Amino acid sequence: MPSILLSRARDYETEHLFDVPPAHLPRFHVTGGVGWINDPNGFSLYRDEYHLFFQYNPYDVYWDTMHWGHVKTRDFIRWERLPCALAPDKSYDEFGCFSGSALELRDGRHLLMYTGVSKTDDGQEFQTQCLAFGDGLDYEKYENNPVIGPELLPPGGSHVHFRDPKIWQEGEKFYVVTGNLSADDNGAVLLFESDDALNWRFVNTVAASENRLGRMWECPDLFRLDGKDVLIVSPQEMSTEGMEFLYGNTTLYLIGELSEDGKLLRESEHTIDYGLDFYAPQTVLTEDGRRVMIAWMQYWNSVDVRPVDDLPFFGQMTLPRELNVRDGRLIQNPVRELESYRSQHVAYADVPLNGKTAFHDVKGRCLDLTVDIRPDDNALYKSVTVCLAEGDGYAVTVSYDPEKGTVLVDRSRGGWPENVISRREFAVRDREGAITLRFILDRYSIELFVNEGEQAATFAIFSPEYADGISFGSEGDATITVEQYTLDI
Ligand code: FRU
Repeated sequence: MPSILLSRARDYETEHLFDVPPAHLPRFHVTGGVGWINDPNGFSLYRDEYHLFFQYNPYDVYWDTMHWGHVKTRDFIRWERLPCALAPDKSYDEFGCFSGSALELRDGRHLLMYTGVSKTDDGQEFQTQCLAFGDGLDYEKYENNPVIGPELLPPGGSHVHFRDPKIWQEGEKFYVVTGNLSADDNGAVLLFESDDALNWRFVNTVAASENRLGRMWECPDLFRLDGKDVLIVSPQEMSTEGMEFLYGNTTLYLIGELSEDGKLLRESEHTIDYGLDFYAPQTVLTEDGRRVMIAWMQYWNSVDVRPVDDLPFFGQMTLPRELNVRDGRLIQNPVRELESYRSQHVAYADVPLNGKTAFHDVKGRCLDLTVDIRPDDNALYKSVTVCLAEGDGYAVTVSYDPEKGTVLVDRSRGGWPENVISRREFAVRDREGAITLRFILDRYSIELFVNEGEQAATFAIFSPEYADGISFGSEGDATITVEQYTLDI
């Protein structure tokens, strides 16, 4: 039987979910449809479908006591809405069912693992890891929750910042990584193991921020890919470091080898997404063995701004991305399922560019667009700029400066108020002036994949949809090849 709080959330959804005309929703990016959403949770394969849950306040467009909303899909593009899965209805989670993960148990049940937030007698928040079992629709919280409490923390580990369990199974054993704040005020990822998913032991601290890579580390994920171990984290309070690490709440991947006792021996570390609106990514292993990642497409530092006043929902997810590891880098590309929604192919090959140019049929706000830029044989151009979502004073510009070796994205005319941070610049690999930029556009977003997925940069935008122009500009001689597909979703 759903609790009063869960029934209330479900009733509210039934009543208000379709208040939003489809013309105001992203076409293929997950949103709450009503209320507020943040982190993706419980991204898992269950009975041949991919389930995705999310941090969710159904009642308002601002963050408040967290529920878990629920959708599922077969192809990562079209999603079916399901009723709210978890409400904060127990003493150990009355201040929120925070982020977590899910897996299919061998007995056919769907297991959710999440952080329950309660308060100590002196009013401090207190976080523990809890379980719920279900059938893909309805979930029952485990009677002996919480299953990982402060007694399992390493010495000095914070019980106030102890959250976001990511669970997986290997053979007969279950493992989980969580975020934690350690005694020396560093972010850390803790590894636990279990024989039954109910009784857990602490194994080791997989990695820590080491007074450098932010403070509290949120939403970890750990997986093996292409012969390497990959740890993903979302650090809070990151400081800028060159052009690699960006200020604020950001995301990192650490690639290396996991030792026998569960420590990551790091070989490389990079930002996952160099854009502004990307946080708390989580991955799933697909039926055909692909590692697919989805993230919250929003920047914590701008969550108090409402660019479009009358939207009755706030927050969206990225397009799921396929991951690979190559040369110490995490390669990210849109899930291949997107390609079956491509229509209206338009291409312009080897067009000389000097100054500004546009093509009459290259435009739109629901597109898969690839721009291949090459230098002229004789001289290196100074810069090439792709201008998207253009019209009526609106525009988002993406400029490549081959001498500096950087890409600069500026969405200050992308529908956000002026006082919001809107520019990001990041270094890209030198390919002697050649660069490939693939853009995925939806009503409220631009996702950029550089050089076949070597780097990604994600931006939420809120300009009106009639701002659908695309143009190209260069200082100096360059050659561009443009390939555009409309996405028919
Ligand atoms: C990350 C986060 C998580 C937490 C959740 C609460 O965005 O702060 O650490 O579980 O959001 O909604």
